[in-house]
Amino acid sequence: MPSIIAVKNLRKTFGTFTAVDGISFTVQKAECFGLLGPNGAGKTSTIRMLYGYSPASDGELYLFDQLINNDWRTVKNRIGVCQQEDNLDPDLSIRDNLLTYARYFNLSKSGARQITDRLLKFFALENRAKTNIRELSGGMKRRLVLARSLINQPDLLILDEPTTGLDPQSRHQVWERLEELKNAGLTILLTTHYMEEASRLCDRLVIMNQGRILVEGRPQELIQHYVGREVIEISPPSPKLLSYLKNHGLRFENLGQRLVIHNQADAGLFTLLTELFGDLRCTLRPATLEDVFLHLTGRELRE
Ligand SMILES: Nc1ncnc2c1ncn2[C@@H]1O[C@H](COP(=O)(O)OP(=O)(O)OP(=O)(O)O)[C@@H](O)[C@H]1O
Ligand SMILES: [Mg+2]
Repeated sequence: MPSIIAVKNLRKTFGTFTAVDGISFTVQKAECFGLLGPNGAGKTSTIRMLYGYSPASDGELYLFDQLINNDWRTVKNRIGVCQQEDNLDPDLSIRDNLLTYARYFNLSKSGARQITDRLLKFFALENRAKTNIRELSGGMKRRLVLARSLINQPDLLILDEPTTGLDPQSRHQVWERLEELKNAGLTILLTTHYMEEASRLCDRLVIMNQGRILVEGRPQELIQHYVGREVIEISPPSPKLLSYLKNHGLRFENLGQRLVIHNQADAGLFTLLTELFGDLRCTLRPATLEDVFLHLTGRELRE
């Protein structure tokens, strides 16, 4: 099957420091693929190599089934990029930011105006088209950066933390738009450290840590495989609880302030534990990608 992105043993070093340590993955057409990982995992360093912002130190990169050897001319027009920082022009209005950006691509004036209007509408910014960037909320800026990344009607959209810093409502708004784009057949590569974002949007993802890929798969399959359907969370874990869990061979992750029981966690065990340890706060909840990360690294995704 033809792929949109294929990377093989991709590496990025800064001096003696290795930010991306030989990673490989493939993204198919119309797929939403995620790079999930904590701060410093190497997500931004990875995708910067994928859109030609910084050269790979080693490895192979194929875009649209074409090996990229420093020749970005043919593929750049087919990629839309939304960087981690909102690098908008502060002196321009919303609309002029889009129109100015359109000049980087081979769009006619009327073509640029048409797509600008369509994108303003799609991202619910049309009523603010003349507003200056300085007056925008974080959510509006983010929507504008997203709109801008679509101005060249790309075949591949690369998003670096599309919703970081947004409140839950704005975040849901962005997710809905991204889902629409995905349903329309756009291929999306995104980075995030929000496990909720990753499980909602991504068909497949890799979990990255310290420049390496820990696991790859579909969110629900990873959760099922590494953690199970549900977990029991208890806080704070007491010595009595710890010895009970050890004696009964239950698998758990101890974070100090709270403890998470994996795999055999079910309603029966939950009832039993709440009876035995009624003085502790016990919750039975669906397992998440955060639990997968915790299981794989012993650390929390967000520090
Ligand atoms: N230009 C650079 N020079 C030196 N080190 C760098 C450079 N860019 C990134 N790094 C280092 O590479 C590592 C990975 O950084 P990167 O920005 O790719 O992480 P990230 O996963 O995107 O993190 P975040 O979630 O904070 O955005 C970090 O330790 C960072 O300090
Ligand atoms: Mg980053």
